[in-house]
Parts: sequence; structure tokens; C-alpha cells
Amino acid sequence: MSQNDVFLRILFSFMILSSYNLSKSFILSPAIRTHRNLATLSVLRSVEVDGCDEIPATKRRLWFPVKPQDALLNQYNTIVKGAYVRHVLVETEDMADVAIKTYLKGDMDSQDPFGLLASDLSACSLSRDEGGKVGWIMNPFHISAATQTNEEKIRIDHNSNVAVYPLISEYAIEQLFEVRPKGGDVFKIPSSLSSNRPKWHICRIDDLLLDYLPNSGQANLESDSDLFTDEMDKKGTNKVFSKRPKLKGSGTLPKTPNIIIPTSATSIDPKRPIAKTYQIITNGCQMNVADSERLEGVLQKQLNLLPIYSSTPQEDALLVSTPSSTKSTSDSKSPDIIVINTCTIRDHAEQKVYNALGPYAARKRAGKAIAIVVAGCVAQQEGENLLRRVPEVDLVMGPQYVNRLADLLDDVSRGHQVVATDPTLLTEDLSRPIRGHKVRAWVNIIHGCNEHCTYCVVPGTRGVEQSRSMEHVLKECLDLASLGYKEITLLGQNIDAYGRDMTPKRTFADLLHYLNDHIPSGTIERIRYVTSHPRYFSDRVIDAVASLDKVCECFHMPFQSGDDEILRKMRRGYTFDSYMKIIQKIRDRAPDASICGDVIVGFPGETDDAFQRTLDLMNAVRFDNLNTFAYSPRPNTEAALWEKQVPDDVKSERLQIVQRLSTQHALERSERYLGKRVEVLVEDRNPKHIGQVMGRTRQNRQVFFEGDFQTLEGKVVHVDITEARPWSLTGILV
Ligand code: 5AD
Ligand code: SF4
Repeated sequence: MSQNDVFLRILFSFMILSSYNLSKSFILSPAIRTHRNLATLSVLRSVEVDGCDEIPATKRRLWFPVKPQDALLNQYNTIVKGAYVRHVLVETEDMADVAIKTYLKGDMDSQDPFGLLASDLSACSLSRDEGGKVGWIMNPFHISAATQTNEEKIRIDHNSNVAVYPLISEYAIEQLFEVRPKGGDVFKIPSSLSSNRPKWHICRIDDLLLDYLPNSGQANLESDSDLFTDEMDKKGTNKVFSKRPKLKGSGTLPKTPNIIIPTSATSIDPKRPIAKTYQIITNGCQMNVADSERLEGVLQKQLNLLPIYSSTPQEDALLVSTPSSTKSTSDSKSPDIIVINTCTIRDHAEQKVYNALGPYAARKRAGKAIAIVVAGCVAQQEGENLLRRVPEVDLVMGPQYVNRLADLLDDVSRGHQVVATDPTLLTEDLSRPIRGHKVRAWVNIIHGCNEHCTYCVVPGTRGVEQSRSMEHVLKECLDLASLGYKEITLLGQNIDAYGRDMTPKRTFADLLHYLNDHIPSGTIERIRYVTSHPRYFSDRVIDAVASLDKVCECFHMPFQSGDDEILRKMRRGYTFDSYMKIIQKIRDRAPDASICGDVIVGFPGETDDAFQRTLDLMNAVRFDNLNTFAYSPRPNTEAALWEKQVPDDVKSERLQIVQRLSTQHALERSERYLGKRVEVLVEDRNPKHIGQVMGRTRQNRQVFFEGDFQTLEGKVVHVDITEARPWSLTGILV
């Protein structure tokens, strides 16, 4: 290290330590954007092998690029129209490196470490007091840039976030988009080419501005024709179908309702009613429920639609709890927009979706102006097939498009059918989700999955991993805290992959520390997370759980099978022994923690011996709670095509065996609480017992006890445990 370096390091440490200021404003990109914000790309599927046996060990993780923007290859400039940028201007490259390292260390005492760097270090007097804000900057390589003036290339006047040119030079802007940044990235670029001692910008991308231009040619609504310029016709990348399909013998389909988007230019067709109500039907995993909460946020807050609560047998077959789907009433008014959000992870959900669509399609054929939306994994999987089989459907949207529902419905309102399933980059939520609960809430931290477990549909339906920046996650948590939420569950398909797609890289443990440190005490009391992956799980996460007061002592660590050969065929990347080593570390460092898991029985090739090793693993761990599944061959997954599928009766027999054993272990784990005093966060009433409330221990065990829900809701109380059952406890409020 040169003397100069040492001096700079000392200087930076001193500057940063001496001047932190907790009242720095927390600047993130504005929540509302009016642009049409969507893009699609060709699907990236690079797998040539059909079983893990054929994959050379060195190649196993090469087929999916780790960074989503790399996965999108040269499509990036088709999608990314601009970025919301903040910067710190420093004199030399060395200074930039030191500053980035300081930022990365994550121990800066600020909710907005980048803003703190800017105010402490930036030589740019115009931006340093605003957290380094530059504003929205247009991507000069975006396909539409060819037709823009120079001025347009670098400026977007957007909700008064004007990129101040020459705050950052045209050369630097080119350098910035050259690296194809995504939201949350922080990196350095030189300020100019000409100077032999250029200054350096440390840039942070707060959010992206994505393009969405339909490629459909003319809409079939006459009143809309002026909205489609030649330029739009040429450039679209999404699948937008302008002609309504013909129905046998009955002419074209009835139109959809007008869907009014406050800021959109969509003209209103006087012959069509205006949509006022919606309903969402949800099934599937927590991720899907969280997606529905975001869809609901768009429908209520951006589009001013009202939920209606009706329930038919078809809907019941798919239903799980989201705000508009739980409150079932006898009022079976038909919604103006129906959204069916579905999951295919284990279920043969496709047929259920087609069945559920039936009554809505019939209503539409009978002349009711209803917009039919299919979202989630089934939508992603079926794509255009859905339109072929049910031509009444207006919009098919994959999980990556949840934040773009308003834009997509804008197209539907113009009379198009839209299929939005191609991979894309994510932007931050435009509207706050409508949460299904008042005490606990989901917070997505990483979308998608780069693993290729041979039984799993998720990488195909949810795409490449995309982490949200730590600052955005914190912001969502602080919003929840201000609304009175007490518990958050961080969501990711493989939560241990958090941050590996970021520049610079982050880890899940970093995020846990950052959240624990910056969520004010007395607000959110508990942080949970799902789901860990034994292959990537790190000791730092165990240490974080053991040491951080808000992070609950609860591990969800799917093992799927206890047999090494089956684990290899599943492509899980660990063995019985390496899994047990993790469990041992958890037991050593967090002895009171609960350990939960997922197991699949009847995976192709699972012999009686292999199954016995699954039971051995269960006996060795003794899970607090185990989610048990019979293997279900899923479309577009490798294992579905393999020989040696296990017959259904063997699967269900094995399922019963693991369920019996896991119930026994769960009871044993519950009994350790007998006679003990536990800390319980009160969440709900006990639906089966008037006068009782329900809460959970930090380890996630349900506890029932007598108490007044009105006064106890959202409170952390102490309860003495008097009864233990496998999945729940009963006690007396202290
Ligand atoms: N069949 C059965 N179970 C599955 N899971 C995922 N895919 C399948 C499948 N095809 C289970 C795994 C995973 C959980 C979310 O769902 O146990 O951890
Ligand atoms: Fe599916 Fe989880 Fe494997 Fe990802 S890590 S492919 S979500 S089972």
C-alpha cells in the first residue's frame, strides 16, 4: 500500500466517523412514475444436458449468468431506458476505491450510507446535500436513443427529478450505461476522457426506468389510433395482440371495460363501461401471496378500484388468504377485473386455472365487459397457450411483471390482449402492497432463483435472481414500522443467494445486520426469513441469528432427501453429512433455535434404502416442523422426464410415514416448552375458541391463551406454557 493510500484511508475513516448525521434524508427514487414501464426479452434457456449425471462438475453452475443484466445480454439496451442515479464526486480513482470499500463494510451509522458518503466526501456541491442526487438519466444506448436529440439523451424531466447536466458529463453517462447497471449497483467511473487526471464518480443506481412499447400495430379501438405512433409500432418487444379473437359463430369477443389509469393518455370509449371493481384469486406459496398483495396495491391505489368479495366453488378450489380473497361474502357480484394468480410448484394447477376461468369467460361471452387476467407461475408456464385455449383472457402476466400491472391493464383497456412473460429486469414497487395482515408482513428481498434443482419449476417461472438493494428493503421495513407492523418475514426462494448479483456483492448476513441496526427499537420487533439453501447457507447467518435481537431463532432449511445419490440427482449440492454439519453448528451456536425443513418423497429413483436415509436424517435432526411433499413431476423440469418414476401408491405410503414421524418429532420439540415462560407476539384471535388469542414464539410455534384481543393485538407478552401439541402450545398470560 502506498503512503498516499494510507493517508487517504486514514482521512476517509476520520471524515466518515467524525461526521455522521442521522437526520440525513433517505433519498430513493420517487414512488410514482408515469412512463410505460415494461419490456420483454427472448427467454434465456441454455441447458443442453438432461440429467446431472452428464454435467461435468466444472460446468454445473455456468449455464445461468449470476447477474440478471448479464442474463439479458445485449437485450439490456432494449429494455433499460434510463436510471435514477446518485453520485459522489472524488478527486482520484484511489479515493473512489477507498470510499466504495467503506460503503461496502456496511458499518456506517446511517440508513442511507451512500447519502452519507456524498455529504461527507463529494466534491460536487450541487448534489452532496441531497444524498448525491443526480436524478433520472437516459440510457444513451437505448434503442430509441437514435431518434433523440442530444438534450433528450441525457435528460428526463420526470416528476421534477431532472438530471442536471453537466453535473455528470456525457462521457461519464456513456461509461455508466456501458456497465449495464441494475437497481442497487454502486460502481466508479471516470468523469472525462480528455483530462489526464480525471475526477471519479462513484455512482449508485437507485432504480431503473424500463421501456414498454407495444408492437401490435393499430389497436382495434378507433379512438385509440392516434396513440400509436410509427415509432411505437416499430419498437415493441412485448407480445401484444390487437385483434380480438373470433369466437365460433358469434363474431368478435365483447370488449373489456375501460380501465382508467390516472396519468395515462388512454381515451375512454363511451360504449364501454368503466371498471370499478376487481377480485383476486390466489393460490400457492408465500411468494405468490406476497405478489397478490402487490397486485392488489396497484389495483386499489393506482387504479382506484374497489375489491369485491365473492366466492364460488371454483374460486374456493384455488383460494388462499389475500385481503380480497379471504373475506368471502354471499354477495356474488361479478368483478370488472378478475385476476387469477396461480402457483405450479407442486400442484397440477393448470387444469384448476382453466376450470376457474370458465365462469368468467362465460360471463364475457354473454356480454359482460370484464377484464380477465391470469398471473403467476401458471401464466408464465402457459403463456400464449392460455389465449389459445381461453380466448376471452385479456392479460397473461408472469411473476416478474407484478409491479407493471397498471401499464399492462392500460393496454388491455385499449382493446389489446397482452402476454407479458419474457424475462425482464425488476424495478421498485410503484405502489404499496395491500397487506393481508396487520401485525406481520412479507418483504421480498430477492426474486427468482439461479439454481436448477431438477424437480423445480421456480427458475423457469420466476427467472434469474434479482436482489433488491439493502436501502430499498430497509425503506419498505421502515414504512411497515410506521404503519404499526411488528414482524417482517424476508422472502426469497434461495435467501442465501441474496446480494450475489449485486455490484458490489452483498450477503444475506450483511442485510440482517443492516436491518437489525436501522429499524428503530420498539417498532418491528421480529425479523424472520425464508428459505435457506444448505449449499449456500453461511456461518455468518447463524451468528447473526444468535446475536441480533430482532432476528428470530428459527431456521427453515429444506433438505429434500437424506440420500446422497438422490440429492445429487436433485442437483442440491450437499450431502447427508454436510447438511448435518450445518445442523450441528446451529445447535452449537443457537441452541434454542427451531429448525424446520422441507422434504420430498418419491423422487424418481428413490429406493426403499434411499427413503430410509431420509428417515435417518429426520431422526438425526428432529425437526420442529417439516413440510412434507410427494414428488410431483412438473412441466419443463428435468426429473419429470426421467425413468424410474415412483408409483403413486408408494409415494403416498412414504408420505404418510414421514408425516407420522415428523408429527412425533414436532411433539417432542413442543414439549420442551412445557413449564417454561415464552415470549409471544399476539397476531390473531383463536378462530376455534372465543376468548382466546393466538400468537407465536420467536421460534415460530403457535401459542393459544385466554386474553383480550383488542388490547393484546401486536403486543409482545409473556406466557407460561401448560400444554404442548405437535404444532401448537397453550398457556397462561403472565
Ligand atoms: N414436487 C414436490 N415437491 C416440490 N417442491 C418443489 N418442487 C416440487 C415438486 N416438483 C417442494 C420442495 C420445496 C418446496 C417449496 O416445495 O420441498 O422446498
Ligand atoms: Fe427451486 Fe428452491 Fe431449488 Fe431454486 S433452490 S430451484 S426455488 S427448490
